[in-house]
Amino acid sequence: MSILVTGGAGYIGSHTCVKLLETGYDIVVVDNLSNSNIKAIDRIKQLTGKDFPFYKYELCDEAQTEKIFKENDINCVIHFAGLKAVGESVEKPLEYYDNNIVSTLTLCKLMKKYDVKQIIFSSSATVYKPGSPMPVSETAELACTNPYGWTKYMIERILTDIAFAEKQWSVVLLRYFNPIGAHESGLIGEDPTGIPNNLVPYITQTALGRLEKLSVFGNDYDTHDGTGVRDYIHVQDLARGHVDAVRYAESNTGTTAINLGTGQGYSVLDIVNAFEKVNGVKVPYVIAPRRAGDVATVYANPTKAKEVLGWEAEKTLEDMCRDSWRWQKQNPKGYGTEE
Ligand code: NAD
Ligand code: WQD
Repeated sequence: MSILVTGGAGYIGSHTCVKLLETGYDIVVVDNLSNSNIKAIDRIKQLTGKDFPFYKYELCDEAQTEKIFKENDINCVIHFAGLKAVGESVEKPLEYYDNNIVSTLTLCKLMKKYDVKQIIFSSSATVYKPGSPMPVSETAELACTNPYGWTKYMIERILTDIAFAEKQWSVVLLRYFNPIGAHESGLIGEDPTGIPNNLVPYITQTALGRLEKLSVFGNDYDTHDGTGVRDYIHVQDLARGHVDAVRYAESNTGTTAINLGTGQGYSVLDIVNAFEKVNGVKVPYVIAPRRAGDVATVYANPTKAKEVLGWEAEKTLEDMCRDSWRWQKQNPKGYGTEE
């Protein structure tokens, strides 16, 4: 029996693969490498000393994906695969709806055909209606502001409806807040293509000198220092949350949505200051205008994760800053370093 990890060569997927293998699960990984590098797969094997099947397949291609179900005894799916850049999704909505929705529908059709009834889905805090009271709980109102977010919203709906119709299905919707950090070895980490959109990859590349300076998007928000506040969560804590979700899905049916966050908000300047202090490096920055679509504050109510999964975040902001920097320093060009 194996867990099919879609998008397993990506940032969160690769860390989760390591945790699953270390826990003793067998895995099968599929990724079209549209936003990742085959070296991540090699590094997972190197870190764990374990081998597993890897398919460089397109999930939207039903014939290709069916081969994976035919060739392996899959009993659970962790579905990370998807396009995830918010700004790009506004420019290319069709691409986002097509990739994220069609891949999920293909996967679900094959799960039904091959009698696979457990799925853990990578959702996002982005499904919560902007302006929701903080900390935000799973029962808060849902509404999105961009096509990327709507794909998460729609996939949550699709999976919920399937689990309603198929009473033996178990669907766990994990709503991640802001994942940062990397594996302690510095062997796997986040490797964005082009100029990073997200804060921490921008900081690490600035500290390295690859980027000149960070633009802090707004210092006039209603927060303790005027800069945006988010719930940053270590990717290793997140990965562990997936192992707990798999265990939960093994013995429960129906759909449950669960926040994976720390419950603690940090501002942009808190992150810059902690990063500089922990790593002894400078991160030059300027204050820039607010970024369209941003809100002042987002952080989780993580109580349900503790109650339902027995999970809570363990890593500190210092761990996150140290581990992000180790990965970036050891891999100045990401997985492209050894080219
Ligand atoms: P990532 O881009 O590093 O990983 C996604 C992987 O999916 C990539 O390796 C990509 O090549 C693969 N992929 C995409 N479309 C595919 C397709 N059609 N067929 C096969 N493979 C495909 O992203 P990540 O940061 O690891 O995020 C994983 C999941 O978590 C995504 O669904 C993302 O939307 C979600 N998520 C991410 C964040 C975040 O900030 N990183 C926050 C909330 C939710
Ligand atoms: C964090 C803070 C920015 C870059 C996004 C998605 C969300 C989820 C996680 C997938 C904000 C500020 C950033 C920079 C800055 N992904 N910032 N300068 O926007 O909270 O969430 O990633 O589901 O859906 O929207 O993350 O890292 O982009 O920004 O000042 O160069 O850093 O304004 O306050 P965000 P982020």
